[in-house]
Amino acid sequence: MTKSFVIIALILLTLAACSFVMSTSSHAQEQGALYLDVTKPIDARVEDLLSRMTLEEKLALVHADSKFTSAAIPRLGIPRRWLSDGPHGVREDVGPDNWKPAGRTDDFASFMPALIGLAATWNTDLATAYGKVIGEEARQRGKQIMLGPGMNIMRTPLNGRNFEYPGEDPFLSSRMVVNYIRAVQAEDVSSCAKHFVANDQEWERGTINVEVDERTLREIYLRPFEAAVKEAGVRTVMSAYNKVRGKWCSENDYLLNKILKDEWGFKGLVMSDWNGTHSTQGAVLGGLDLEMGTEILPYDRFFMAGAFRDGLNKGDFPMEVLNDKARRNLRQILETKTLEGRASGALNTKEHQATARKVAEESFVLLKNENNALPLDLTKIKSIAVVGENGNQLQAYGGGSARIKAFYEITPLEGILRYVGDRATVTHSTGYSEKANAELANRAVKAASQADVVVYVGGLNHRPYFDAEGTDRKDMKLPYGQDELLQRLVEANPHTIVVLMGGGPIELGPWLARVPALVQAWYPGMEGGNALAAMLFGDVNPSGKLSCTFPKRLEDSPAHALGNYPGKDGTVRYEEGLLVGYRWFEAKKIEPMFPFGFGLSYTRFEYSDLHLKAPGNGTVTAEFTVSNVGSKDGAEVAQLYVQEVKPRLQRPLKELKGFSKVFLKAGEKKIVTIPLDERSFAFYDLEKKSWIAEAGDFKILVGASSRDISLQQDFRLGKTLILK
Ligand code: BGC
Repeated sequence: MTKSFVIIALILLTLAACSFVMSTSSHAQEQGALYLDVTKPIDARVEDLLSRMTLEEKLALVHADSKFTSAAIPRLGIPRRWLSDGPHGVREDVGPDNWKPAGRTDDFASFMPALIGLAATWNTDLATAYGKVIGEEARQRGKQIMLGPGMNIMRTPLNGRNFEYPGEDPFLSSRMVVNYIRAVQAEDVSSCAKHFVANDQEWERGTINVEVDERTLREIYLRPFEAAVKEAGVRTVMSAYNKVRGKWCSENDYLLNKILKDEWGFKGLVMSDWNGTHSTQGAVLGGLDLEMGTEILPYDRFFMAGAFRDGLNKGDFPMEVLNDKARRNLRQILETKTLEGRASGALNTKEHQATARKVAEESFVLLKNENNALPLDLTKIKSIAVVGENGNQLQAYGGGSARIKAFYEITPLEGILRYVGDRATVTHSTGYSEKANAELANRAVKAASQADVVVYVGGLNHRPYFDAEGTDRKDMKLPYGQDELLQRLVEANPHTIVVLMGGGPIELGPWLARVPALVQAWYPGMEGGNALAAMLFGDVNPSGKLSCTFPKRLEDSPAHALGNYPGKDGTVRYEEGLLVGYRWFEAKKIEPMFPFGFGLSYTRFEYSDLHLKAPGNGTVTAEFTVSNVGSKDGAEVAQLYVQEVKPRLQRPLKELKGFSKVFLKAGEKKIVTIPLDERSFAFYDLEKKSWIAEAGDFKILVGASSRDISLQQDFRLGKTLILK
């Protein structure tokens, strides 16, 4: 082959490639369309693109064309848009028109710890790192929108999806989801704040009507969404399945148009939950911008497809309504940089694994540790009996839409085996299982009696009626006879360490008084076993704190104390109002088993010297010292609660308004600074229809949990502030 022949061949190939690009790219591109110019402001690009679209093209933007996509518009260079669950990693792909796994070999993903556990780290940097993993993996898997994070508030311990949400407190939830979303979106992937709003139980989720008063709605349930919109600039929101005040959330003009879009200035799109759209008129006028998952085919029969077209043609809907929806979808598409072609992402990298591990390590909450039973000392232990089904149960592929086809998952047993190596013998007995079995229990008790130490790994799982979408738990107890088993185990071997998995509080049986140590491990993700072993054997000092109250009994928790769960005749009334979680236990003086914010460490911390620096205008900075007075390095989550001394209206006795996780070497101390702003003192004023911080006296309370306040200072707000 001559040199000139090679050159000619190369030129021809290049020309062919160019003409391919030109034919797949838009006509508009040839003319240098403004919307393709990334240096131009996003509003101008959106308007330019919109002005070039036909009615059919606009309609194609506002409904699905398969389970998790909306259609491409090749003429304008808009690729097919892929959405994916979920909060804990990029879900496996399913069939185009059904829920069957697509059977691909390239849809594995990193399996991250559950969101309730991320919240229990109280480490906002980890929320950022977590979001980066989700964003990078979504981009590599070609997804534009990731359906998470969920941010519904834990109203009842029984909600089957509590594991997917960041707990009972709106402030803690907000801080975690804001960083998570920012990090996902920094990777050119859109996040989705879900489920908007008050989808706080799975029982009758598709029909239940929630009656909630305005202040509670604003101060508790909407708060994380408001932060997601205003602070993180979340690009998409998913409406919930349920109704609020008699109106479906997917067509709730008040929630979607008035609050989300008008008041908060949300410029992104609202999508329905899958099969959560109910009517064309309601969805079109109620604020929905993208209809997903409706279970009628073909897709032109979706509520916002053919029937929307008919309505527009007949003049039932102004064209501007469609334009507004199209605009919102286009903004999401342009902001996610899909037109210019996103860079490739990455899957299951060393960094992703390290983040999964770090989040797991910091999520573990040490609830009890008598006589320093933990950490375990391998120089003194020769045999370990690991007991419990969760000891060797894979958790990734369960729970509903949050499931992950994980690259790998290290179970607790595997983590312990890897850690221990040949330094001790390790056995595993299942002990309990779905089908109660005396033989299983007997074998476990025997193994326990023969070992130096028992590591029990039990709790809940992702089967229906536990931590699973579509069902709630039936009670707050340990399933499968675990209470009895634990009682027998601790009799057989008092050195029984209990590790519980689960997405929320569990009623702890009488065995609690007898076991020396208890750890809440949530669902710790693909590195969970390694992280757990590192914590049990002392390489990692536990630093998680509860993101929800652990009541002694279900009846102590607000919705259940008032008999307001799961509702009556299709309606659930949030009569506990603002008193959700610890706010209720404080107000009613009910002793929880373990309070919100609680968690022990292998070292000890002391708090001192609280000063307030108040430059005025409702902002104030709290400064105090945290000292590690124990003998191990560790991290403490210092928490700041605010109390209004004589509120004009009912207010919770204390509310979390700041926190800081501080890492301290043994003997070290640090000054911690927590800034407060006007919002830290404000409540939602029904008359002014606005947040308001009223002049008056406040207490600034600082401590290690909601019930362990060691420092306090008075603060006087000089004048009333009406906030936006
Ligand atoms: C869930 C959503 C999820 C969607 C798509 C629904 O059942 O409520 O959270 O994103 O399915 O899988």
